[in-house]
Amino acid sequence: MSYGTATRDDIGGLIAFWQVAGENDGRPVDTPDAVARQLERDPDALIVARAEGRIVGTVIAGYDGWRAHLYRLAVLPSHRRRGIARELMRRAEARLAAFGVSRIDAMVLEHNELGQSLWSSLGYTQQSDWRRWVRGV
Ligand SMILES: CC(C)(COP(=O)(O)OP(=O)(O)OC[C@H]1O[C@@H](n2cnc3c(N)ncnc32)[C@H](O)[C@@H]1OP(=O)(O)O)[C@@H](O)C(=O)NCCC(=O)NCCS
Repeated sequence: MSYGTATRDDIGGLIAFWQVAGENDGRPVDTPDAVARQLERDPDALIVARAEGRIVGTVIAGYDGWRAHLYRLAVLPSHRRRGIARELMRRAEARLAAFGVSRIDAMVLEHNELGQSLWSSLGYTQQSDWRRWVRGV
């Protein structure tokens, strides 16, 4: 297993990976353009785990200058429960802590019990007094 950051050569592999491994409900479909923009804007944010050259885990550790957000935490079903998410998150949190942030957040769908187990085991707690408001542009 190796860990590192994604590059433009990974775009196709990332899209295919998220189709089988990601939480895909209630969000826009991933596109190569969107991934390319993300890699261009913040090349170190997209952290990947690879096994035999293949992507088996991802997390995006994003910092916009104000807040630190985590996105696209996912592990290939065949590779789950081996600590890959925990290691991805260790790296993501180290990156975000280096920016001096005081808090890190992630969005989790209410019915995603697997995701909630993971966040809870990593010390994240649910903020039930906030609701996300969105508008498509
Ligand atoms: C959630 C997910 C990323 C976990 O990846 P993983 O590599 O299997 O997780 P880890 O092996 O690092 O497990 C870390 C901890 O999470 C919790 N956890 C992980 N899988 C779990 C499961 N199936 N049931 C209960 N708890 C679980 C455990 O506390 C685990 O620690 P432990 O193994 O010491 O008990 C993976 O299941 C996944 O990709 N799910 C689909 C995408 C998704 O929902 N992502 C989260 C979006 S919010």
